[in-house]
Amino acid sequence: MIVTIDGVAASGKSSVASGVARHLGIPYVSSGLLYRAATLLALEAGTDLSDAPALLALLGAAPLRLEPLPEGNRVVLTSTAALHPERDLTADAHTSAVDAGVSAVAQLPEVREWVNAQLRALTPPFVAEGRDMGTAVFPQAQAKFFLMASPRVRALRRVKERPGDLAEVEAALVARDAKDKAQSAPAADAQIIDTGTLDLAGVIAAVLRGLHQPASSDLS
Ligand code: DC
Repeated sequence: MIVTIDGVAASGKSSVASGVARHLGIPYVSSGLLYRAATLLALEAGTDLSDAPALLALLGAAPLRLEPLPEGNRVVLTSTAALHPERDLTADAHTSAVDAGVSAVAQLPEVREWVNAQLRALTPPFVAEGRDMGTAVFPQAQAKFFLMASPRVRALRRVKERPGDLAEVEAALVARDAKDKAQSAPAADAQIIDTGTLDLAGVIAAVLRGLHQPASSDLS
């Protein structure tokens, strides 16, 4: 079984996917973490974020491993023997610098193919979260969800996790929505959930209810 949970930035996808996966007793897979890790490596190496061949060379030289743990995914730079020991990139992949650069990296078709190959190599069952899980990557998924919330609601949630100026955070989210738009359309058979008036437990409950409902119904 594959369940996909897509949605806009800071709509709570990871927390919801984690909660749903734990309820079902299966792992969840954060596709955004792979885009973030690729961006982090590029920033650290001083690589131009639009230079696809250079980025793919970086990813080839320093293999990343996504660990789809139920309580939270980790992304690890695997050890290249003498060069460096294994390094957990998860925390460093969630900085504002990575937030600002990741959309440029995620726009590159070559990087998307690389991420999608990593994801398709994983063995189901799992809950996959991202932007295009239900459309491009796992169109065969048994159940698909798409999370929405207004920019203000998402900015309020984000400043609780990572303190910052609310107006600036909201503007950055709107800018990232625009940059990520191409790959962020809901699948035709996805159930849309407006999370604006729901807390985390409420969204998880809506997804679990939706697992037993026909597709294309609005659960908000
Ligand atoms: O979900 P997130 O905020 O961690 O994702 C980080 C970025 O990666 C986001 O700006 C868009 C991109 N992304 C994507 O293009 N496709 C995905 N399936 C997941 C993330």
